[in-house]
Amino acid sequence: METTEMAARKSFIVMINMIAWMILITATGLGVIHFHECPVQPNLPIYVTVIGVTGLLSLLVMYLRNTLDDGLLVRFCSAFSFTLYLFIVCWFIAVAELVAKCLQAREMAYCPYSGFPVGAAILKTGGAIITGCNVENASFGLTVCAERTAIQRAVAKGYRRFTAIAVTCDIKDSFVGPCGACRQVLMEFGTEWDVYLTKPDGTYRKTSLRDLLPLAFTPAHLQKN
Ligand code: THU
Repeated sequence: METTEMAARKSFIVMINMIAWMILITATGLGVIHFHECPVQPNLPIYVTVIGVTGLLSLLVMYLRNTLDDGLLVRFCSAFSFTLYLFIVCWFIAVAELVAKCLQAREMAYCPYSGFPVGAAILKTGGAIITGCNVENASFGLTVCAERTAIQRAVAKGYRRFTAIAVTCDIKDSFVGPCGACRQVLMEFGTEWDVYLTKPDGTYRKTSLRDLLPLAFTPAHLQKN
């Protein structure tokens, strides 16, 4: 005969079980979906996916062997909740930092002729952020945009792989994208950029270089057949 206590314990295990599965599936799903685009630390989605898949397989093996108990499940739940938490927190911190740095970079703009300061911040794979601002010239055509200043600084530091860029100017009521020339220059260093169009108050709209420059001409087109 099953006592009420045993029945309660059983439903507790089933509940914890379901939570564990849900967390594992979410962690794995997040890792897979964001495989190529995590701005903070490009390898993070890979770690999350590996942990998620390992967790799912371990749970499955424990089910099959009948060695699953509630203590183990609680530990599983905590571990995977923590992984998910880490993933989400890192993500938001990275974007917030990128956006903050592009706003700071705008303060450095040298724009006596247009009076239109622009700031850019580029996130390289691995996490470093490189900034740039527009630098104008009395011979107007020699002006360099903020995005290109940032790219050139980054390349001079030896960086060539990037995952995201945040761009800002003084326009408060709309999200402003990089000029066409800058889009092409960004495309030179990868097709998979996240682009954060940032207003002066720090709010941003996320888009991608692919969307900003469809059917682009890239270095791949110059490769011989
Ligand atoms: N500018 C940029 O820095 N980035 C862009 O994508 C568009 C324009 C700068 C160039 C110039 O100093 C000023 O904005 C006005 O065109």
